[in-house]
Amino acid sequence: MSDDQELRVSKIRNGTVIDHVNGGASMHVLSILGIEGGDGDTVSIVMNVPSDRLGKKDIVKVEDRELSQAEVDVLSLIAPAATINIIRDFEVIEKRRVARPDEVVGVLSCPNPQCITTEDEPVESRFEVLEDGVRCCYCDTIVRDDVAELID
Ligand SMILES: Nc1ncnc2c1ncn2[C@@H]1O[C@H](COP(=O)(O)OP(=O)(O)OP(=O)(O)O)[C@@H](O)[C@H]1O
Ligand SMILES: [Mg+2]
Ligand SMILES: [Zn+2]
Repeated sequence: MSDDQELRVSKIRNGTVIDHVNGGASMHVLSILGIEGGDGDTVSIVMNVPSDRLGKKDIVKVEDRELSQAEVDVLSLIAPAATINIIRDFEVIEKRRVARPDEVVGVLSCPNPQCITTEDEPVESRFEVLEDGVRCCYCDTIVRDDVAELID
């Protein structure tokens, strides 16, 4: 059952609830989903509420949008414990876990200024996902900590 902490904001009729996001990481979740505020998505965010599993957690509720598995899998890089709840007519009709993808394309930018993906070339970024980080497929730069810093 949902407790009051998680329903600080009113229920949504249709959309996606991203639950069990590591406390404070919801801003990165918004970046990954391309939600910048001006694009019209209606979003409610609960930050740093107590959680048995995580100590504290964030919750992101996006109305009228059901996330694809590919979008969800990219979230695993910064919110590995996330639960994706699809909401229809106010009820959770499906619950999905995030899974680490083999690679992520076009989501992260390479920190190497000499990398072809960061120069003025029409090359999309591509990172191989490692157990403990990501590796640029073009220049082999590896980032282990702060992968969230690479989000465009
Ligand atoms: N209609 C809704 N609008 C907004 N948030 C909702 C709605 N229904 C459920 N939620 C939220 O979605 C999350 C999952 O709901 P659920 O009822 O499955 O809770 P749960 O049993 O605690 O799930 P879990 O075991 O994954 O923690 C909770 O954070 C809950 O507050
Ligand atoms: Mg719960
Ligand atoms: Zn690179």
